[in-house]
Amino acid sequence: MKINILWPILFAMTFTPAVVGAGEDPEFGALFIAPGVEETFYTCTACHSERIVAQQGLSRDKWVDMLDWMVEEQGMQEIEEPDYTVIVDYLSEHYGVDRPNFPAPMN
Ligand code: HEC
Repeated sequence: MKINILWPILFAMTFTPAVVGAGEDPEFGALFIAPGVEETFYTCTACHSERIVAQQGLSRDKWVDMLDWMVEEQGMQEIEEPDYTVIVDYLSEHYGVDRPNFPAPMN
């Protein structure tokens, strides 16, 4: 394939162009593209980078604790259903203890 002007643009839009095809979408930054990514991205990036989320690897219980801590100590609005379950499902499936989607270093 011919190298063209698009490549520098792709580089600028994503942290790790090599993994875009493997589940990342520049629109959702470092987050793995799967059901729930949109709810998770918009809820959590209101305050901080999605990378702080993506670098975690927690069990479902620990994610629930983490979200409680966001609400109790960090000023996050409680997340209403059905989004709450969607987000906890998304986080525990894609950012579980085996860290299947640990982000590549930003450079
Ligand atoms: C109202 C603002 C706010 C929202 C919304 C928010 N957070 Fe946070 N979050 C914070 C702050 C502030 C910190 C930094 C706390 C610290 O390190 O003292 C933080 C830190 C974190 C950390 C890092 C914890 C650690 O041990 O370093 C994780 C993981 C996290 N948030 C997950 C989430 C997730 C997942 C969501 C969305 C469901 C979310 N946050 C939404 C404010 C928020």
